[in-house]
Amino acid sequence: MIFDETYRPFFEQAGQQGIFAPEFGVCRVPLVAVASRTGSRAEAYRRVAPQGLRDFASVAEPDSIAKLLASDVDFVCIATPDDRHFAAAKAVLAAGKHLLVEKPSVLTLAELDELARLARERGVLAKVVYHKLLDPDHKKLRTLVVDGKLQHVNTGYCTLLEPKSISGGQFSEWIRGRNPGTYVAVHYIKLIDFTFGGRLLRVTCTGQRGLVGEPDGPTWDSTQLRLVYGYDDGREAAFDIHTSWVTPDNFPGYVDQEVQFRFDNGVWNAHSRRRGVECTIEELTPRQVKTNINNHYNGVFVEPWGERSQRGYGLEVLERFVREVAAVEFGGPASGRDERLAQARGLAYNDIGADRQTVAAVQAMEAILARHAAGQPDGVVHVNHPAGGLVLWLPGQAEPEVLYQPRV
Ligand SMILES: NC(=O)c1ccc[n+]([C@@H]2O[C@H](COP(=O)([O-])OP(=O)(O)OC[C@H]3O[C@@H](n4cnc5c(N)ncnc54)[C@H](O)[C@@H]3O)[C@@H](O)[C@H]2O)c1
Repeated sequence: MIFDETYRPFFEQAGQQGIFAPEFGVCRVPLVAVASRTGSRAEAYRRVAPQGLRDFASVAEPDSIAKLLASDVDFVCIATPDDRHFAAAKAVLAAGKHLLVEKPSVLTLAELDELARLARERGVLAKVVYHKLLDPDHKKLRTLVVDGKLQHVNTGYCTLLEPKSISGGQFSEWIRGRNPGTYVAVHYIKLIDFTFGGRLLRVTCTGQRGLVGEPDGPTWDSTQLRLVYGYDDGREAAFDIHTSWVTPDNFPGYVDQEVQFRFDNGVWNAHSRRRGVECTIEELTPRQVKTNINNHYNGVFVEPWGERSQRGYGLEVLERFVREVAAVEFGGPASGRDERLAQARGLAYNDIGADRQTVAAVQAMEAILARHAAGQPDGVVHVNHPAGGLVLWLPGQAEPEVLYQPRV
């Protein structure tokens, strides 16, 4: 899905037109190779790819990543299901290739440490895609925070509802034991972490089952996550993030998203169905054409000058990464590569080094849900507790379980 939506148009544009910056000149970005489970969709794509872009190698399981790495690639983008990111990402970095991985980067801090170590050792970039940080609305929110116009966040809620077709069709192959929180709440975990800063203190989570899987099984229909952050002035803020992947398919918002953040001196409200566009076309909306269209994310347009284009922040985030790679490799003399690498690693919006609190929240949520499925609901995870970096307390148990020992 995400390959078709964003990577395909990005590689088509960058493969045909290249990307340009004064420091690295024109950089062509051909799609060299594709690894997937069966290879069938890669072959389907080859048949419709633009002329001149059909020569990519396609490799399939078993051992598709090793086969991919044997080709002459400079960087690798990973868009496999989230519990299959780590093994592939590790192999990419160990081979000395730059890495871009879909959100959430990985599911535990131990895995994140391992990727960070490999990236440092091999002198390559390891970055994560959080395209919501490039949404113009979220950029405006952050600008108002950075400029001190919105002061001190106190509380907030975010909700993202995915249609049933996601859990029932699109993801049915890998959905067992998974939850919509890891899949989509993570967008808002990152938004909150990146926009407001602060230290993650506590994580709680609950959820519902019975539609996608058994009522007492490990697969979740919907989740409600709460994060509590602390700030240098001693004050706290709490954020509730509600997600689902069992919303009716004909719900007009399709992927319905809403956030509200409350500050000492203001309120920020954003709603995907009130972003401005509501379109009805007989027989087409809401299924083939969305009723509320997010034209900022990824739109297909006829430009005023006649050209057909596909653009939006979903593609922009990929291009930014490729620009960072090009700047490291081609943006000056070889003697300055380390400095350019350090500069690219300093970008907190996508570097895995800055993903620690987000992965901590995901690991905590998954651990709480796993205990819930095993009959022990209502756990709470404390971050940087005297007993360890991530510590899970369950009701009725005197001793906590340490999920991650080092400081987060
Ligand atoms: N940024 C976003 O908003 C966004 C949106 C959707 C999905 N995603 C992320 O993208 C990733 C993929 O989601 P999707 O919706 O595209 O899923 P998908 O099921 O449509 O695609 C998954 C792909 O992974 C491949 N794959 C699965 N197992 C593999 C293996 N062992 N080796 C090699 N390839 C394998 C499959 O062949 C398939 O091409 C997830 O991490 C998801 O969180 C991000």
